[in-house]
Amino acid sequence: MTQGKIVAGVIAPHPPHIVYAENPAQNEPTAECGWETLRWGYERLRNSLESTDFDSIVIFSPHWQTYVGTHFLGVERFQSLSVDPIFPNLFRYHYDLHVDVELSEQICNTAADQGLVTKMMRNPDFRVDYGTIVAGHMTRPAWDKPIVGISSHRLTNYFSADVMQRHMHTLGKATKEAIEKSGKRVLLLASHSLSHRHFTTETELPEDMSKEHISNHSQYLWDMKVIELMRQGKTKELFHLIPDFVEHAVAETDSGALTWLLAAMDFPSKPATLHGYGTVIGTGNAIVEWRLDEGGAS
Ligand SMILES: [Fe+2]
Repeated sequence: MTQGKIVAGVIAPHPPHIVYAENPAQNEPTAECGWETLRWGYERLRNSLESTDFDSIVIFSPHWQTYVGTHFLGVERFQSLSVDPIFPNLFRYHYDLHVDVELSEQICNTAADQGLVTKMMRNPDFRVDYGTIVAGHMTRPAWDKPIVGISSHRLTNYFSADVMQRHMHTLGKATKEAIEKSGKRVLLLASHSLSHRHFTTETELPEDMSKEHISNHSQYLWDMKVIELMRQGKTKELFHLIPDFVEHAVAETDSGALTWLLAAMDFPSKPATLHGYGTVIGTGNAIVEWRLDEGGAS
């Protein structure tokens, strides 16, 4: 069997607003427009990914929150309605997705072998979180590739960002090892925003872009700092800055998604491609791609 490979690693942010603004058939609310810089960024990502082939998509989501270890989707098919708890007016999405249970189990077992607490989610009625769904939809709206869903072990909340870094570094290495053994070509999605301080009220028309901006200048400076490190290929420096980024910018990297992604890619020094940056209710969001195969725009 040929060795498996991570074809690309992507930061794929998941504000429900961008699915709302896309008006897909699966989502009940409809919008006039909105958050185009991010939606066009996802369009550029999809175009870039057309030049490679892959078998499965692994998605790490901050909104599947587990306090005892890392969990993995372990049922062949999930079908239900996902309603965003904060924005039910924007996101009521009917999903129907397939899981690569074999790869899911391989990553779960490899991570356990390396000392992490892991568990397979076998409940067929489990409600898949919107962080997984939005990143999956915006990257691959056809849903024609099976996914592996990975939960966010809330180590930053329960212990500290430093403890999270150590565990998610191990999870990333285990993910790489399991994928290589699987023989599959795999796309990784770290579903998260960058700076994450957001407004506490919503405008009457959610897609009124005259009201959309970063929550404050210090958050913007942090976002530009981490994006520049990505564009320069300084992923090890970025890794070491994550705890400070979490503390100063309330960054959604507290989830471990970015740490996992960087470790799984083995800290590439190749410059990443920034497909788009934009704010959603004041939070900073970037669509960033590292191509690890021969193709891509980077
Ligand atoms: Fe989020």
